[in-house]
Amino acid sequence: MSRIAYVNGQYLPHRHASIHIEDRGYQFADGVYEVVTIVNGKMIDEEGHMERLWRSLGELQIDAPMKAGPLKMIMREVVRRNGVVNGIIYLQITRGVAPRDHPFPKNTTPALVMTAKRLSMDKSERTAQAGVNVVTVPDIRWDRCDIKSVSLLPNVLAKQAAKDKNAYEAFQVDKNGMVTEGSSTNAWIVNQDGKVITRPTSNEILAGITRASLLRELEKKGVEFELRSFTVEELHNAREVFLTSSTSYVLPVVKVDEHVIGNGNPGSISVTLRQIYRDFMEDAS
Ligand code: PDD
Repeated sequence: MSRIAYVNGQYLPHRHASIHIEDRGYQFADGVYEVVTIVNGKMIDEEGHMERLWRSLGELQIDAPMKAGPLKMIMREVVRRNGVVNGIIYLQITRGVAPRDHPFPKNTTPALVMTAKRLSMDKSERTAQAGVNVVTVPDIRWDRCDIKSVSLLPNVLAKQAAKDKNAYEAFQVDKNGMVTEGSSTNAWIVNQDGKVITRPTSNEILAGITRASLLRELEKKGVEFELRSFTVEELHNAREVFLTSSTSYVLPVVKVDEHVIGNGNPGSISVTLRQIYRDFMEDAS
């Protein structure tokens, strides 16, 4: 099945799908995006993603290209046309096309693009069973990391730094030596007392939808957690480390920089939390 992309009202073969050279997303990274998990053909946490999308648009004063109802219908159609059973949908909205000039243009129609991609659950499971390596890098981003903006250059540099060291992800560290989040994931530790810890949401991190759902599941199950920032030292000396995102779900980390976490295998709490999250996705799909 060949891939189909949605571009401003049209379903096009992926290779022919394109955007104008003066789209403000291309010239200024003036746009926002979402990545939604698909399990068994169903979207996970659709409402959470919609809410965050509307919030990001609002913060940047970009008009929604349409109401949520029709947008969700297009999302379903993109999933269907691409035959995605397990995978992701990528959705991007930019301020639109206008002659290059920094201030917001007047009367510009926002541009909407969607793609969908299959992801292998088996591959994800194999990765989780082995656990992944993480490196730490300075957080060089701006003060509005709560907006899911397509302006991702610091995140790209962080992920490349990880790749250069054969690591899966880079956890970013603020000027006070506290971990903020991964380049495309939220960061978690389990301390030596067995307490699950993740940073509270603020303008310094993205409010991950996976993070929020996992916290809700933990609350339901009576698993204790603490919402607070943690230091790089706490990260290095944690009993367990894991990360969350729409593409990674809950993923155990077995090494951070030169520090082997636990015995170098995924920790039991991380493995349990991944299963809790996978069950949540199965139930929601
Ligand atoms: N990234 N933090 C950052 C900086 C992110 O870019 C993401 C998501 C997350 C996790 O959010 P969620 O659980 O809602 O996926 C945290 C997506 C997957 C991406 O850029 O591909």
